[in-house]
Amino acid sequence: MTEVQAPAALDAVAALAELAPVGADPVRGGWSRHLLDDADRDMRAWFVRTAESLGLSVETDANANQWATWAPEGAAGRAIATGSHLDSVPGGGPLDGPLGVVSALAAVSRLMAEGHVPSRPIRVANFAEEEGARFGVPCLGSQLLAGELDTDRVRRLTDVAGTTYAEAMTAAGHDPQAIGRDEDRLSDLALYVELHVEQGRQLEPLGAPVGLATSILAHGRWRLTVAGRGDHAGATELDSRHDPMLVAAAVVQAARARALEASPETRSRATVGKMRIVPGGSNAIASEVALWLDARAEHDPDVRALVEAVLADAREAATAEGCTVEVAEESFSTRVGFDVPLTDRMAAALEPGFGEVPRIPTGAGHDAGILSAHLPAAMLFVRNPDGVSHSPHEGASDEDIRAGVDALTAVLRDLTGP
Ligand code: GLV
Ligand code: MN
Ligand code: MN
Ligand code: MN
Repeated sequence: MTEVQAPAALDAVAALAELAPVGADPVRGGWSRHLLDDADRDMRAWFVRTAESLGLSVETDANANQWATWAPEGAAGRAIATGSHLDSVPGGGPLDGPLGVVSALAAVSRLMAEGHVPSRPIRVANFAEEEGARFGVPCLGSQLLAGELDTDRVRRLTDVAGTTYAEAMTAAGHDPQAIGRDEDRLSDLALYVELHVEQGRQLEPLGAPVGLATSILAHGRWRLTVAGRGDHAGATELDSRHDPMLVAAAVVQAARARALEASPETRSRATVGKMRIVPGGSNAIASEVALWLDARAEHDPDVRALVEAVLADAREAATAEGCTVEVAEESFSTRVGFDVPLTDRMAAALEPGFGEVPRIPTGAGHDAGILSAHLPAAMLFVRNPDGVSHSPHEGASDEDIRAGVDALTAVLRDLTGP
């Protein structure tokens, strides 16, 4: 008699340790893994290797998202999807993204090891360019899959080196003409559950290792290009300068001031975290400054109002300094309320192991938010004791990481039960 031996279950903590050298950023600290760069290629290779070692079949879709499928005999109908992303912000933390992918593979391997026979296929996703760090548009892979983006515009997006998305895709062996809404793949999914490290500090005071998501703030990104007149820092009189840095400084201040001015229930927040100064010499007045405004609030009109207020301040500052401002909207993501029946079902599945799991909102964007407009989607958060994220200091304890895998395993077991 031959017995099919399930491979040993994947340990999420060990898997994350294996990924730690990939894309470690010696300049910024933390990790920099951006769409189709060397680090992303190594992360993707790890995904294929690990998923295949567990006996999953791996494919890459037209939008550069990776999918690892477990569909043993008896699994039928639309798939249960889970996963997250393996890319990062510049100099980001170890968990934003990878925790969800690693935990998904670990949970599937646990179900295999315990002899669970899923009633439906389970697909583990690695969504491409969730952070939008290379081409400026967050959740690029899931938005393309869902048909949310103008594909001509996407093909023309450029990175800092001037490489277009189309060129980057071609160089990595993908066909940039094939991107866009993937009806077959989308309609094959019954639902999507994403596990993610908590961003913000809500679970720690509640003493809870895991939480369920309720909603995502509406959010977007705007690029402001301020043009002035480049000149000599020593030889140019103060009254004859057109210095775009002054305008940029006013925008940074306005982002905070206008967000504070909005009523608290709008949960408004605005940030300038990225700036490009041309030419960038310490003894030169800049000729141009590009800066990126990230604005978020509870509802879409709150974000629109916040951005309009900041832009009005930017234009006023530009006029005063004899500069010009051009504004481009790089992305906008509408407010998300996660699927309540699915979240309730997850809460019930978690009850035996975790008791009543807290439900918390988040200010961070996720592929689950994009997909929620197309299929039932929900999220599980793993406690982050300091709440820090998009920083090398992001973290979760090994114990909580393993608790997250326990939770996701319980959820997948329930969703694919008899
Ligand atoms: C992505 O993590 C975002 O919310 O910016
Ligand atoms: Mn992130
Ligand atoms: Mn993320
Ligand atoms: Mn995100």
